Amino acid sequence: MAQRLAVISGASSGIGAATARALGSAGWRVVLVARREDRLRELTADIAAVGAGEAVAEPLDAADADAVAAMARRVTAVYGTPGAIINSAGAGVWRWPEDTPPAQMERMLDAPYRAAYHLTHAFLPGMLAARSGVLVHIGSPASLLPWPSATAYTVSRWALRGLHEALRQDLQGTGVHSSHVLFGEVTSEYFDTNPGSHAYIPAVAKVIPRSTPAEAAEVVVRTIHAPRPLVLHPRAMAGLHVAYRLAPEACRRLAAATGHRR
Ligand SMILES: NC(=O)c1ccc[n+]([C@@H]2O[C@H](COP(=O)([O-])OP(=O)(O)OC[C@H]3O[C@@H](n4cnc5c(N)ncnc54)[C@H](OP(=O)(O)O)[C@@H]3O)[C@@H](O)[C@H]2O)c1
Repeated sequence: MAQRLAVISGASSGIGAATARALGSAGWRVVLVARREDRLRELTADIAAVGAGEAVAEPLDAADADAVAAMARRVTAVYGTPGAIINSAGAGVWRWPEDTPPAQMERMLDAPYRAAYHLTHAFLPGMLAARSGVLVHIGSPASLLPWPSATAYTVSRWALRGLHEALRQDLQGTGVHSSHVLFGEVTSEYFDTNPGSHAYIPAVAKVIPRSTPAEAAEVVVRTIHAPRPLVLHPRAMAGLHVAYRLAPEACRRLAAATGHRR
C-alpha cells in the first residue's frame, strides 16, 4: 500500500459514507467525493471528532471529467498518490426500457460507470508510478445475472464490470489491483433515492440476507488490504454465483420467473 490515503466517491451516503467512517477510524486520510456538500461537511466533522484519521470534502459531480481531474491534481499536490480509490458513487431506478427515458439512462451511466472511469483515469498514473494501490468498484449482482425490469441499471453495472475486467488485464504486473465488489441488498438510502426500485427485486434474491452499510464497509476495508478480483458478500451471494456458473440457463430462468412481470 503506497499510503493510507483513500479517495471515496459516493461518500455522502450508504456504502461510501460507511467506508469513509471505517477508514477514518482506522487512521486513514479520506477524500470524500459526492455532490451533496452539506453531507460531506458533516461526515468530515464526524471523522475529525473520532480523532484517528482525517477527512477532506471534495463536493463535485464525479461524472464531470474536468472536475474530477482538477480534484485529483489538488489531492495529489497536497497529499500525494492515494493507496485506494473506492468507486461507490452510483444511482439508478429499476424500470423497463420503454419506461426509462434516454436522459435517465445517461444518468445511470454517469454513476457508477463514468464516475469510476474518471477517477481511475485521474489517479492511475500516480499509482502506476508507485507500483501499488487498489481500485475498488462497488458493483451489483445484476452485472452477473440480470433480472427483468432493471434494464438501464443493468447496462450501467455491466459497464462498471467491463471497466474492472479490462483493468484486470491492463494492470497485470503493475502492482496496482482492481477489485469488483458485489453486495446483495444493503440497507442504505439507495431505494429511497431511487423510488419504486425495491418492488422490482426478484423473489429469488430474497434468500440473500441484507447487509448494513457498516458491514459492507468492513468488506471494502478487507478488500483494500487483501485485494481479490471478485468479492461477493454475503456468503449466500457466493452460493448463487456458484449455482450460476454451474447452471447459467437454469439461473436465468429462475431470475426471470421470480422477477417482476409487466
Ligand atoms: N444498496 C444496495 O442494496 C446495493 C446493493 C448492491 C450494490 N449497490 C451499489 O452500490 C453503489 C452505492 O450504493 P449505496 O447503497 O451506497 O447508495 P446510496 O446510499 O444511495 O449512495 C449513493 C452515493 O452515490 C453518490 N452519487 C450518485 N451520483 C453521483 C455523481 N454523479 N457524482 C458523485 N456522487 C454521486 C451519492 O451522492 P450525491 O447524491 O451527494 O452525489 C451517494 O453518496 C450503487 O452503485 C449501488 O447500485 C447497492
